[in-house]
Amino acid sequence: MATAVSRLPTMRLARAPSLSLRLAGVFGLLAAASVLFVAGVAVVIARSHLDRTLDRQLISSAASFQAGPATRVRQPAQLAVETRHWLAEHPLPEGQMAAIGLPDGRLLTSAAGGDLYEVGEPRALLSATHVRWWNLQGSEGGVRGLTVPILAHGGRLGTLILLAYERPQQRTLHALVSGIAIASAVGILLSLLLGFAVVRRSLRPLRTMAAEVGAIEAAGDLSRRLSLHGPPDEVGRLADSFDSMLERLEEAFHKQRRFLAEASHELRTPLTVVRGQLEVLADELDGRRLTQVGDELERMSRIVDDLLLLAHLDEGMVLRREPVELELVLREALLRGMLLAPRDIRVDAEPVVYARADAERLLQVTSNLVTNAIKHTPEDGHITLRSERVDGAALIHVDDDGCGIPPDELPHVFERFYRGTRERATLPDGSGLGLAIAHSLVAAMDGTLEVRSKPALATTFTVRLPAA
Ligand SMILES: Nc1ncnc2c1ncn2[C@@H]1O[C@H](COP(=O)(O)OP(=O)(O)OP(=O)(O)O)[C@@H](O)[C@H]1O
Ligand SMILES: [Mg+2]
Repeated sequence: MATAVSRLPTMRLARAPSLSLRLAGVFGLLAAASVLFVAGVAVVIARSHLDRTLDRQLISSAASFQAGPATRVRQPAQLAVETRHWLAEHPLPEGQMAAIGLPDGRLLTSAAGGDLYEVGEPRALLSATHVRWWNLQGSEGGVRGLTVPILAHGGRLGTLILLAYERPQQRTLHALVSGIAIASAVGILLSLLLGFAVVRRSLRPLRTMAAEVGAIEAAGDLSRRLSLHGPPDEVGRLADSFDSMLERLEEAFHKQRRFLAEASHELRTPLTVVRGQLEVLADELDGRRLTQVGDELERMSRIVDDLLLLAHLDEGMVLRREPVELELVLREALLRGMLLAPRDIRVDAEPVVYARADAERLLQVTSNLVTNAIKHTPEDGHITLRSERVDGAALIHVDDDGCGIPPDELPHVFERFYRGTRERATLPDGSGLGLAIAHSLVAAMDGTLEVRSKPALATTFTVRLPAA
């Protein structure tokens, strides 16, 4: 069953993550991206620096060999002796080894050296005829190699093989990467927390504004102002603009209400005079035509009276607040309804339910609802007036089983001058102010007016007032 409440909600109901959280998230992502970029560059630079240092160490060992044994060797037999001397006098850095393949096929290796045969390509290394860099795979990971042929008297006496395990460099690199990772994680977390705190603090005036605007919206009180005290920044300027917009809105509403009240008031007197004069004329002239004019004038007077009442209600017309027994109101409304047209109207009242209301105005509201129900039900239709007390509220329901209200028209029935498409075609004498007045009267008594309808089946209008 479609429903409409007299006060239509306009707020966004779905909740999105807060702006502070989203901004802090963006900050965090930016911080993470820049930290990762810097860390990546640092690791690449460190790696290339370590590689170059390793190569320089190998070159320096090769240069020392070339400057020592290689220059002193005259015959192949001397190579072994010179090489042993050199190996003994030149301790190599950790993880490095030197091997010299002698012409007779023997192999001399440095004391700290590992096993040349553990390294991927010993045969290729031993037979290298050019100065060449090698990237090899040893039992403990990558190995950087440099081969230098030992030349004398235009021939190759042997080959100097210098090998360096990359593990120490990799250990340094790992230590660097884990240090950077921990520092980055801490940095990102800190910037996230800090970003969130800063954003939250900067958005505090906006939150205050949102709460104030919500309160103004809920109370419908245009005389309130945000009056945000703070620096004249973007938020401050927004608050000032909002305040001046409220000021202009309030002024415009006030002018419009005054205009409505004055116009209705001014129209009332001439209408009364014309109606009076018309009655006198009707006796003397063509009564039938004048009756038609009189009916139209009567209708006009009703509209003017309704507009005047609405204008007073807009201006904050104060209604009485006294305990009113709902059953009495329903019975009186039933009697008035019976006089309008023959319908099966019943009262189904919970005994002794009192509302805090203005008895006269509540009867006006109920009669209005009954009149509508009569207008929209066929002669064999049923109308029930019910009252009950629910959780501190006193309720009046007006049910009918007439034509009902289509769902697309339901949200508009409380608007001023709104009439359904069907009514405009078939019931030309209504003005569309009845429900607008009922709604404003109930609101002036701190209540609400709601409607539920199933077209062609049932319609229920519910007045909810504070119980007495
Ligand atoms: N009980 C009802 N059943 C079906 N439609 C209804 C009912 N009550 C109200 N409506 C719809 O709501 C519209 C507005 O009602 P409202 O009482 O404000 O105006 P009206 O009855 O057309 O004119 P007025 O009451 O000013 O003479 C109606 O035109 C009609 O379309
Ligand atoms: Mg009506």
